[in-house]
Amino acid sequence: MEKLANSISRLIQISEWGLNVDEATHRHLRHGLTYSQLHSKIGAVKHLSNLSDYHAIFMGQWHGMLPHMLHEHNIIKSAIGIELDHFWANFSEKLNYDWDFKSIIADVTQCKTWEGNIQNNILIVNTSCEHMNYDWLNFKKSQLGYIYLQSTDFQIDTHINTVTSTDPLIKELLSRGFKIEEAWTLPLEVYTRYCVLASW
Ligand SMILES: C[S@@+](CC[C@H](N)C(=O)[O-])C[C@H]1O[C@@H](n2cnc3c(N)ncnc32)[C@H](O)[C@@H]1O
Repeated sequence: MEKLANSISRLIQISEWGLNVDEATHRHLRHGLTYSQLHSKIGAVKHLSNLSDYHAIFMGQWHGMLPHMLHEHNIIKSAIGIELDHFWANFSEKLNYDWDFKSIIADVTQCKTWEGNIQNNILIVNTSCEHMNYDWLNFKKSQLGYIYLQSTDFQIDTHINTVTSTDPLIKELLSRGFKIEEAWTLPLEVYTRYCVLASW
């Protein structure tokens, strides 16, 4: 509880940095603090809590709250976030300034550069699957690792790849040789989150 409070308080403090941004970015900042957002991030921490000291790669890390929470719980000790949007890439670095977290500004569906960074005890996280196709899943798998995917049935313009169950996520993972460890749904206020943890 104390660790969660620490992450939320940091997000609120850093949010002041966004006071001069446009209305859409403001909406995003407020959205990051909604019950549904926090609940889904807490769900991720719970389901990943058997891991410790992993090296993470976040695909579209947005404000960077989940990296912060996973680090606070010693689940990850270093991370790279690959984020399309300059503002959020900078924001997430600012939020995670005091541990080994770096942002790369790139489209993960076009990005090949991180393939070389796959090392042992790697955890790949994408809670933004509804925003992109699955091309980024075609990475070379060496060593052992885990992959955590989250998508949603929430229909808005920027959600180009929504799902209505965990089945499409499982199908994509199985077709690329991943082993499914766990799949679950998280019904929230106005939408449902679909989550899968797999290994390779
Ligand atoms: C609204 S946010 C996060 C939504 C997600 N449901 C969550 O709660 O974590 C989606 C983020 O993914 C980023 N994004 C979308 N498509 C991307 C891509 N192809 N490569 C990298 N980042 C991407 C966006 O810039 C944004 O910061």
